Amino acid sequence: MKTRKLRDIEVSAVGMGCMAFSHGYGKIPSEEYSIEAIRNAYQHGCTFFDTAEVYSPNLSGIGHNELIVGKALEDVRENVTIATKLMLHSVGFRKRVYDEIRRHLEGSLERLRTDYVDIYYLHRMGSVPVENVAEAMGRLIDDGLIRGWGLSQVDVDVIDAAQNVAPLTAIQNIYSMVERDSEDSIIPYCMEHRIGFVPFSPIASGLLSGKITPQTQFERNDDVRNWVPQLSRRNIDGNMQIVEMLRAFADRKNATPAQISLAWMLHKYPNVVPIPGSKNKERIIENLNAAGVELTDEECMVLDSELNNHKVYGHRGLGGF
Ligand SMILES: NC(=O)c1ccc[n+]([C@@H]2O[C@H](COP(=O)([O-])OP(=O)(O)OC[C@H]3O[C@@H](n4cnc5c(N)ncnc54)[C@H](OP(=O)(O)O)[C@@H]3O)[C@@H](O)[C@H]2O)c1
Repeated sequence: MKTRKLRDIEVSAVGMGCMAFSHGYGKIPSEEYSIEAIRNAYQHGCTFFDTAEVYSPNLSGIGHNELIVGKALEDVRENVTIATKLMLHSVGFRKRVYDEIRRHLEGSLERLRTDYVDIYYLHRMGSVPVENVAEAMGRLIDDGLIRGWGLSQVDVDVIDAAQNVAPLTAIQNIYSMVERDSEDSIIPYCMEHRIGFVPFSPIASGLLSGKITPQTQFERNDDVRNWVPQLSRRNIDGNMQIVEMLRAFADRKNATPAQISLAWMLHKYPNVVPIPGSKNKERIIENLNAAGVELTDEECMVLDSELNNHKVYGHRGLGGF
């Protein structure tokens, strides 16, 4: 598979979000199935895997997903890039930020069966100033415990403040054809400063695959699609126009709508590496194959202008979950 760089870290052009093996999209598969799905993705050329310490069923407990990712990738550790995230709500004193982050990191290292994390993200801004987080992350890079670091769901002011203390490897924000807030200033800032941009929910939680209809029933337990605004009873009908436009485009390209939604962002920006999430082995491969779907500049412009002409019903934005 083609590769891209997140600052100095080389990864497959499409990565793999591993969250749904533990949380967020209803019933989770068996550990055996999840491990096999991750290993299949690696065999297929994927070298970029995304997890977080909080990904556990119903977000209760810590580390369910990291344990799976660690087991799946242990034998090929040196060939892959593992990204994980920590939650840091508050820390008493500035001098303790490093200790607290290191404590979280050591837990992740153990669960991931490794002695370094490639990209360590702060999952959400809490009350700790980003400069203090950046300083601690810089020290952890010097310690050799992480290769690079990043922030998630942040605006350009936060990114700039952090970047001035310790250069960032990647920003992980929500981004898709129906969530384009990051296009205005965040992605351009990242491009200018050699920071990778890693879109999460790049298929808009399944909307852009074309497989969700107004009749689709989501699962009752631990399924974020019950809260995704574009998928609400009120909004989903309106969003079908975008889905139909995408489906027609995909048919002409002999690709699937999900693949076009990924190929579109890959074509637009050289520093973008999406991490679609699926708990289904076939759809994981389908998504990875988007790296081989080439769009021309003109096709990309057509898609952009279609998107500009369609109203999106519902918005998650940077403040979203
Ligand atoms: N930083 C953050 O705050 C944050 C937040 C959310 C997620 N993330 C990360 O980003 C990753 C991706 O996010 P996401 O899972 O929300 O992304 P997503 O790929 O936009 O949405 C996943 C949903 O789309 C469906 N889907 C994916 N590919 C499909 C395909 N080709 N055809 C039909 N349906 C498809 C999945 O169903 P099936 O499983 O049935 O295929 C699942 O219901 C996560 O795994 C996680 O690592 C980070």
